[in-house]
Amino acid sequence: MKIDLQTIAIQPSGVTPLYQQENHTVYWVGVTEESAFRCNVYLIGDGEEWILVDPGSRAHFPQVKESISTIVSPEKITGAIICHQDPDVAASLIDWLAINPAMKVYTTPRTNVLLPYYDIEYEYVDVEENSIITLPSGAELQFIAAPFLHFPGAFTTYDRATQALFSGDIWAALDSDWSLVVTDMEAHRDSMDLFHMDYMASNTACRGFVRQLDGIEIDAILPQHGSIIASNFVKEGLDYLENVRCGTDLIYPEFS
Ligand SMILES: [Fe+2]
Ligand SMILES: [Fe+2]
Repeated sequence: MKIDLQTIAIQPSGVTPLYQQENHTVYWVGVTEESAFRCNVYLIGDGEEWILVDPGSRAHFPQVKESISTIVSPEKITGAIICHQDPDVAASLIDWLAINPAMKVYTTPRTNVLLPYYDIEYEYVDVEENSIITLPSGAELQFIAAPFLHFPGAFTTYDRATQALFSGDIWAALDSDWSLVVTDMEAHRDSMDLFHMDYMASNTACRGFVRQLDGIEIDAILPQHGSIIASNFVKEGLDYLENVRCGTDLIYPEFS
């Protein structure tokens, strides 16, 4: 069933399906915190595999766990994709691994060096540049490096089945008056500026990443903060990232 992302609203349970294909579903599973930094957590369900994308902080673990409990028992979560080690992305690994110590952690070597400082042990799956994993339905997840956006070892995850791009902090937006999906791209550019100008390394890093997406068909951009960018604004989103001036462009303008 094709869900119209452009008109979607959060369901009362907190679990909102974004894509539903046979044996392959992508859910938004929170959170609804009222701060401009609000985080998105996504869940991919595929056969026996239940993979969290950027599971989030410990502060919001109870809410996310409760939401997920409405569709699957939390101990059935089999993996977590961790786009970088920040606590708003990764700290709840402590709690998820306590529930299922066999849960796999998909991440880059640079992130894998830092995650053990949460005092956790886990089965590590190295998401080398452009590596692909195949899920039980045959759906493939492709990992695309995003160096210095904002962490040196950051990466994004492209779901080839749905053409959704889980973008981590890239295309993140700060907005206290948020909606699940972007409705006003002009206003959203300002909200993305608030994040990118301070957190993203430089236009070179942004432009280089956009270049890597050449030839990849993107249906929607699912960031870790702020609203989802549905298909009607994907092109504008790519243009935004290609042209944004941020980080060292602004701090050292004499060199850029
Ligand atoms: Fe971050
Ligand atoms: Fe973040």
